[in-house]
Amino acid sequence: MDKILIIDDKHSILESLEMFFAEKGYRVYKADTGAAGLALFNRHEPDVVILDIRLPDTHGIALLEQIQALEKPAKVIMITAFQDMETTIAAMKLGAYDYIHKPLDVDKVEQAVERALYTLKIDRETPLAAEITQPPNPEVIIGKSDPMRNIFKTIGLLSQNRAPVLIQGETGTGKELIARVIHRNSLFAMEPFITFDCSAIVETLVESELFGHEKGAFTGATQSKAGKIELAGNGTLFLDEIGELPLTMQRKFLGFLQRSEYDRVGGKHPFTSRCRIIAATNRNLAEMVNSGLFRQDLFFRLKVVMIHVPPLADRRTDIPDLVSHFLQKINWELGTDIFSLEKGVIDRLSAHTWPGNVRELENVLVEAVVRARGKVILVDEIETILSSNHPITTTRLRTYSLPHMEKKHIRMTLDRLNWNRSETARVLGISLPTLRNKIRKYGIVPSG
Ligand SMILES: Nc1ncnc2c1ncn2[C@@H]1O[C@H](COP(=O)(O)OP(=O)(O)OP(=O)(O)O)[C@@H](O)[C@H]1O
Ligand SMILES: [Mg+2]
Repeated sequence: MDKILIIDDKHSILESLEMFFAEKGYRVYKADTGAAGLALFNRHEPDVVILDIRLPDTHGIALLEQIQALEKPAKVIMITAFQDMETTIAAMKLGAYDYIHKPLDVDKVEQAVERALYTLKIDRETPLAAEITQPPNPEVIIGKSDPMRNIFKTIGLLSQNRAPVLIQGETGTGKELIARVIHRNSLFAMEPFITFDCSAIVETLVESELFGHEKGAFTGATQSKAGKIELAGNGTLFLDEIGELPLTMQRKFLGFLQRSEYDRVGGKHPFTSRCRIIAATNRNLAEMVNSGLFRQDLFFRLKVVMIHVPPLADRRTDIPDLVSHFLQKINWELGTDIFSLEKGVIDRLSAHTWPGNVRELENVLVEAVVRARGKVILVDEIETILSSNHPITTTRLRTYSLPHMEKKHIRMTLDRLNWNRSETARVLGISLPTLRNKIRKYGIVPSG
């Protein structure tokens, strides 16, 4: 029989909760002071404690701290008439399972108790994974699916030469990681790996960022400066979001690829470079070539070796390994020790569509770990995270607003909100007219 200890100085609360829970078949203990509560706790080792904040002889937070120090599995649910920030934070910090405000809604209390008991049960049943003693290698690509195995093969072949590589794949599929691993496995792994994000720099500065400039080359050029190509030396220059490279720069960059030579802005002598070029994009460059947005000759130059990284939804068999990899990483970084999954979590994760791909998976797991109040990640918790319009996911997807991602995301949000346009606009952080335009522009219709 599950045991509940209720500590509150208000007898009406003690009695009504006792009656309620006794009737449900729990064994109930009650105390109207902190001291009496602690004595009962030690004697009966209850599974759940319902603890009031204001007690005649002590503060609920102090008692919570004492209870936690005993290191029993018990889950403590705090109840209070106060809504202040400090107490709530302090309680959650100390590991309270939940925090419920008065006036008490018995159903809410019951739900919290049931959840706490369920967490306890799963904690007990799930074998705990071994603790990690060292951080996982950040430059390892997880995956055993066929497309990932092929990518590993290609990386192996690339290790012996300096052939340019074009990596294509949706946002969050691991393009940058792959670029780093290519570099790490090359003969020049000890040389620099330099990233240049073509989308992050205003057009007028792209040339001097990439090629460098001489003193006095333009207003504000008070000193000469090496460009990214120069910094890459004999290593790798990673051109992220190559699809965003302005057309004028595409021509100049092609010139560099053809001659391995370039000029600093305002420079008189050409520089040479033999860095390896790895370019990445989440856009369809072939399509961009067709519509005149990307130079065909540059496209051919870059795609000597082409790596296509499939969306996570097309390689769901990689999900279990990715999950355990990320749990190691997250626990290491957050100093937590939540490694176990309730049965069904992997199935739930595998059923998701993952518009944000591997990055989204990692973020979902971070949130699950942060929210976990036992040692185990529950299916329920994953469900909540996946089905809520999760702000991290939303902003992230919006930052990477390449058209088809955007379309997909808008459609998903519309569907989720039953095509309530004003609500969707609010959630997406755009105005209603903008949303209407986008619906029209992308021809979005309700799915299903
Ligand atoms: N196969 C994988 N194994 C381990 N970690 C991965 C894998 N794929 C991606 N990641 C991790 O997921 C995150 C996103 O990956 P990355 O930044 O390489 O994606 P991207 O394709 O460059 O995304 P974007 O197009 O949005 O720039 C990173 O933290 C990366 O380490
Ligand atoms: Mg990237």
